[in-house]
Amino acid sequence: MKAVEFIEVTRKFGNFKANDEISFDIKSNDVHCILGENGAGKSTLMNILFGIIKKDSGKMKIFGEEKDFKSPLDAIKNGIGMVHQHFMLIEDFTVLENVILGNEITLKTGIDFKRSELILNELVEKYSLGLDVNARISELSIGQQQKVEILKLLFRESDILIFDEPTAVLSPVETDRFFKIIGTFKNDGKTIIFITHKLNEVKYISDRVSVLRKGKLVYESDNADKDLNIPELSRAIVGELSEISNPVKRAAEINTSDAVVLENINLVLNELNVLNGLDLKLKKGEIHGICGVEGNGQSGIVDVIYGIEKNFTGSFKKYIEGGISLVPDDRKRKGFIKEYNIGENISLKGKNLNYLPEKRINEISGKIISENDIRVSDIESPMGDLSGGNQQKVIFARESDSENYVIVLVHPTRGVDINASAFIHGRILKLRNEGKAVLVISSDLDELILLSDRLSVLYKGKILKTFARKDFSGYIKEENEVELTADPDFLQSIGKLMTGITDE
Ligand SMILES: Nc1ncnc2c1ncn2[C@@H]1O[C@H](COP(=O)(O)OP(=O)(O)OP(=O)(O)O)[C@@H](O)[C@H]1O
Ligand SMILES: [Mg+2]
Repeated sequence: MKAVEFIEVTRKFGNFKANDEISFDIKSNDVHCILGENGAGKSTLMNILFGIIKKDSGKMKIFGEEKDFKSPLDAIKNGIGMVHQHFMLIEDFTVLENVILGNEITLKTGIDFKRSELILNELVEKYSLGLDVNARISELSIGQQQKVEILKLLFRESDILIFDEPTAVLSPVETDRFFKIIGTFKNDGKTIIFITHKLNEVKYISDRVSVLRKGKLVYESDNADKDLNIPELSRAIVGELSEISNPVKRAAEINTSDAVVLENINLVLNELNVLNGLDLKLKKGEIHGICGVEGNGQSGIVDVIYGIEKNFTGSFKKYIEGGISLVPDDRKRKGFIKEYNIGENISLKGKNLNYLPEKRINEISGKIISENDIRVSDIESPMGDLSGGNQQKVIFARESDSENYVIVLVHPTRGVDINASAFIHGRILKLRNEGKAVLVISSDLDELILLSDRLSVLYKGKILKTFARKDFSGYIKEENEVELTADPDFLQSIGKLMTGITDE
C-alpha cells in the first residue's frame, strides 16, 4: 500500500523552483530516506506534506486519497507528524506544555494535565528518552529538544512520521538509540520518512531512497536488502563526481606555541559540575578535537573560552591578541538573526560595519555566496529562508573569514551536504596551516579523526585522555577522503572512554 504519493508537485519562491514537478511514492511501513544537496528542496517538500507551505501545482495522495493540507493541524489530523530540522518548540513552556499544545484532539476529555503527564512519563520510560516532562525547553540541549519533538509524535500517535535531519544533532551513541526508536516505530506499522546527509545511515536504516537535486527527483533505489550502491548514490546527490574536490592538505607541523590554556577549570551551573577540573591547551597551528557525549561540558568550555561565562575557578590564559571566532552549537538560537539577510548577518560581526550602505552589504553577500557555493534563491533573502545547510555555510564563512587567531567550531558541518562538508574541512585545515589555533567540538568522530592534530575525550567536565595524531592517523585511508575508515579498535576504545570506561 502507498502511504504517500507525490504527483508533479511544484513549489516556487519568486521565480526559483524549490520543487520542480516531483513525483514519487512512499510505501506504507517503509523507512524512506530522502537525500540531496543543501538547498535541493527536501525540507520544502516535507513542509508541503505537513501543511506548512502550499504547493503551487501537482497532487498529493495520502493512503490513496487526494489531500491538500491547509495547516499542520490539518496534516496532524490525517495522521502525519513531523520533527523539523529547526525545532518548533516554545522556549518558555515546559516539555509537557509543548507536547500537548494543539493536541487536545487526541484527548477526548479536553486538556487533562494529570493524565497527559502520566501518558508522557510512560512514553518517556518505554522509549528510554530520559526527559523530565516538567523541564522548560530553554533549559534543554538540542539533543533533548529533539526528544521532546519525538515525544510529540508518540503522544499524537501519528502514522506517517517525517524526520528532517534528526541525526545531524546526535552523537553516535544517541544515533544508535534513535535508530532503535525508529525500529520500534516500524514494528508498530508506522511509515517513516527520514532526511539525512549521512550515507552510511541511509544504507543501514532505509528500505528505499529518493534523491532530489535542484528541486527535481533525480534518483530512486530500493534498499530492502541493504545492498544500496553508495558510489552511485553519491553521484546522484552531487551530480558530477568531479564536483567533489578538496585540495587542501595538512601542512607539516608548524609553530605550535600555546594560544589558549585552561587549567583546572571548575564551573558549577544549576548545582551541576559543568566543568570539573578541566585542563585544555589550544596551540597555534593545531586542530584540537574534542569528542564526548553531549552534556559532558562542551558548552561550558565554549562559554569560558568565548568569555560568556565568568563564574569559574581555575586559570584561563590567552597568549594571542585579538578576538575569538565561534561557530555555535545551536545556529538558530546563537548563530544569526533570521530576519536579516546574509550580508547583514555577516556584517554583524565585522569591524566598523554598523552603518554599511545596502549596496556594500549586497557586495559582501555576493562574495560570500559565490566563494562558499551557498544556494539561495535571492541575495536579499532573510537568513531564515535559507535551507539549514546553507545557513550553516554562511555562519562558517563569516567566522572563518576573520583575522582572529582562535577559532572555536562546534559541529562545523552540522546539516551540511557531502560536498560542502569536504569544502569546510578543507577550510579548517587551511586555518590550521595558517597557524591559527582551532578547537573543534563535534559529535562526528569521523570528522574529528580526519581533522584533529590532537583529540581529547571529554567526560563529566574533564578531559579523560588526549590522543596525538600519530595514535590514530595510521588508520586513515587517505587524508581528506570523503569516506574514511578509522581502525575499529581505536573507535571502540575511544567510544568506551566517552562513556567513562577507562580500563586502567
Ligand atoms: N520561505 C522561503 N523563501 C525563499 N526561498 C526559500 C524559502 N524556503 C526555502 N527556500 C529556498 O528553496 C531552496 C530549497 O530549500 P530547502 O530548505 O527545501 O532545502 P533542503 O534540501 O532542505 O536543504 P538542506 O539540506 O540544507 O536542509 C533553497 O534554495 C532555499 O533558499
Ligand atoms: Mg532542509
